[in-house]
Amino acid sequence: MRFTVSPSRIKDAVVTVPGDKSISHRALMLGSIASGQTTIDGFLAGEDCLATLDAMRALGVTIEHANDTEISVNGVGRDGLRAPASALDLGNSGTAMRLMAGLLCGQAFDCVLTGDDSLSSRPMGRIIKPLGSMGAVIESSSGKPPLRIRGSRTLTAIDYRMPMASAQVKSAVLLAGLYAEGQTTVTEPAVTRDHTERMLRTMGVSVISQGESISVRGGEDLHGVHVSVPADLSSAAFVMLAAILSADADIKISSVGVNPTRTGVLDILRAMGANLTLENQRMLGEEPVADIRVRASRLVGGDVDPQLVSLAIDEFPVLFVAAAAAEGQTRFSGIGELRVKESDRIAAMAEGMRNLGIRVDETDDGAVVHGGQFQGGRVQSFGDHRVAMSLAVAGTVASSGVVIDDVAAVDTSFPGFQALMTDIGADISLADAP
Ligand code: S3P
Repeated sequence: MRFTVSPSRIKDAVVTVPGDKSISHRALMLGSIASGQTTIDGFLAGEDCLATLDAMRALGVTIEHANDTEISVNGVGRDGLRAPASALDLGNSGTAMRLMAGLLCGQAFDCVLTGDDSLSSRPMGRIIKPLGSMGAVIESSSGKPPLRIRGSRTLTAIDYRMPMASAQVKSAVLLAGLYAEGQTTVTEPAVTRDHTERMLRTMGVSVISQGESISVRGGEDLHGVHVSVPADLSSAAFVMLAAILSADADIKISSVGVNPTRTGVLDILRAMGANLTLENQRMLGEEPVADIRVRASRLVGGDVDPQLVSLAIDEFPVLFVAAAAAEGQTRFSGIGELRVKESDRIAAMAEGMRNLGIRVDETDDGAVVHGGQFQGGRVQSFGDHRVAMSLAVAGTVASSGVVIDDVAAVDTSFPGFQALMTDIGADISLADAP
């Protein structure tokens, strides 16, 4: 699949983007090991979360779909999962693989977790090490998937100081901690998304947060709840930037998750001069949401605050595009984690933007992006959904057409991206292509 994007003008509109990916994964996993029913609305029916849904079914959980976004999970209780008949294929999803590893290493059965080429090249040592020190036995291919998890192990609690800021690692250890004897504590070097902690609490688990340390006790039971999934701020970011860069645009995006562990993108864009306001702020269950109003703005570059990195971790590809459209230079640092995402996002964005006429100086853990004018051209997504969508936004303000190859992965997180962008005036067409 490829996108062909032409210079566009974004219209005034009120839109809704799909549900939050992180929260959708967690609602399925935690709902499965809760007792009683968990009902979910606003579920993200993207390929990543559907891979988790299939995996939970393969583990013996009955999950019903009223429609794409309304799901009910008949929880089997903490010890009710059953051995799957075959390997669990988690597609492109790092979240699914790392959280499932945490969940499965305390079960009474063995299982194998696999994924696509991108997932098969991502580092799993970061979870194998702490889970191993809890007593889990996980075999891998030199620290990469597939993972073979040996069951029937007694897990013991640990006190783990994470070497990197990662909500996936934190969540994997906390999920294993539910099956361990004693109190498991994870300390993060910087605050990361806290959806696991919030949902565990709503489901009746006492989660203690003290500064940057989070603890759970093994043996506590979860009970089913209703989860309303907010719209995904990480998906909203593409719509936001398209509006910011288009003359006179005024867009409202409804009911977007604005959990403070996720809103770094708003702070960074505002610091660059974006006109963003949060309206109708309220709680949706355990998560804060707001309608985000975005108006066309003139952006100015600068140094991006490294303290905001873990709070904006998935938005750097689109922030690179913002930086290219801004006046002056924008310096990104402390973003080395981007090199181990669905692609090496620093390299992928640098290559794509250079091909469109933007100067990008790469460093080991960042980049300096020089503001300029995007030219037309042909670029690669490297099979990465966020790179594909970021370059599509770049195409809306390029001087002539931009073709982006290999965009099928957009469906992992933002099904309907092309249709939604077209509705608001972006000239993006999608063609079948090898
Ligand atoms: C996620 C955590 C982040 C993020 C990913 C979703 C999660 O990954 O990039 O898209 O749901 O916990 P890391 O924990 O690797 O930073």
